[in-house]
This record gives sequence, C-alpha cells and structure tokens, in this order.
Amino acid sequence: MKVAVLCSGRGSNLKALLEARARGELPHADFRAVLSDQEGAGALDTARMHGIDALTVLSSGFRGDRTGFERALLETLAPYSAELAVLAGFQRVLGRTFLDAFPAGVVNIHPALLPAFPGHMVWSKETAYGVKLAGATAHFVDEGVDSGPVICQGAVPVLETDGPDELSARILKVEHRIFPAAVGWVTSGRVSLSGRTALLRGFSPSEGEEGASLVWPPLDA
Ligand code: GAR
Repeated sequence: MKVAVLCSGRGSNLKALLEARARGELPHADFRAVLSDQEGAGALDTARMHGIDALTVLSSGFRGDRTGFERALLETLAPYSAELAVLAGFQRVLGRTFLDAFPAGVVNIHPALLPAFPGHMVWSKETAYGVKLAGATAHFVDEGVDSGPVICQGAVPVLETDGPDELSARILKVEHRIFPAAVGWVTSGRVSLSGRTALLRGFSPSEGEEGASLVWPPLDA
C-alpha cells in the first residue's frame, strides 16, 4: 500500500516506522513521501536518509485558510498516489478535503489514552491532573480533534516524580512500539471497523502471535 507520512517536527515516530520497515516488519507499507508543514523539520532529514522524497508545504502560508492548506498538501502529494496518510507528529487538524483523498484512510499517533487528553500539551495536563496511568493511542482520523476510532493503545504508569518531560519520554517509547504495529496492520488490510471498534483480522492470541495485541502491554481480560 502506498503511504505518505506527514510530520511537523523531529520525526522520531517516522524513524520508528522506517526502522520497522527496514527490519521487514511492515512488508505492505510502501513509504512514498514524507511531507512537513514546518521548515527544517528533523523528519525531513530522516526521510532523505532513507531515500524517501522529503516535501514541504508551510502551514504558516495558509493562516485562516484550512481548505487552501489541505488542497496544497494534496497537490504536493498527488504524484505519489498515496492510498494511506500517516500522521507522525503532524500538529494540524485536517478536514474532509484532505481526509476524503485517501481510500485507506488517515491514521495518527496521539500521546495520550484517548478519549482522555486530546489536543496539545497533554503531558503537563496529565501530570497536573494527577492521573496514574498514561499512554499513547494509534487511531483513524476523523474531522474532530483526536476523536476518530481507536486502533490500538499502549499504557505506562505516571510516577510521583514525573514532570511533563519524564512522562513524555516514557510515552514516546510506547508510541514507537504501537504505531509501527498499527501501520503494519492497516497496510496489510487486517484492520476493520465495526462501528467505532477496530477489529484485527487473523488475530489469534492462542497462537501467541508476537505483538498482535491491540493493547500494549498485553493484559488479561
Ligand atoms: C509525538 O509525541 C506524537 O504523539 C505527538 O507529537 C510528538 C511528535 O514526536 N503528536 C501529536 O501531538 C499530534 N497532535 P516525533 O516528531 O518525534 O514523532
């Protein structure tokens, strides 16, 4: 499946995806292009290092014109014929103009256990709230803010000594584990939706399939 990845920053999730691909874990993901809305994003260097086209459409040129921004994204990505868009640290909310262009959908990684803590700066909100469990969510994107159907989630404890930086570092490790898994399942056509509920086709816990759990770490019911 042809995939375009959109990033806004350092690109550690992009790196996790490309490393998983290099290990042979994403055999059906054909990463065609990486696009950033920020000049000089680290993700662009990562893309070039892996021989993937690195593109830029600056969101700053489209203030107040989301449709224009989305059209520019689609025009720039058009030559790559991507079927799936992967948001790996992309910090813009996207609407129907963009979402409707990808037959296999748009997936995102969010650094919280949705539907708790959508939006930005989640780590300081989590530590200020005093939650004891935090984590990350890979999900399909809809028109809302981090409101699309969940694909899989991973959890970590929040320690008394955690500030936002410590917590974000712990959550990031989970992101790097669950996002490549989610993208692998989507690109191999194994994820279907029953209403909002993601189902993983061919998931057979009794056969002990490595990593094939929609919850990380795997938990007993
Ligand atoms: C990650 O924590 C990702 O979950 C988050 O931005 C960070 C990007 O890091 N995404 C969002 O907040 C989406 N709204 P990265 O550039 O190192 O992958």
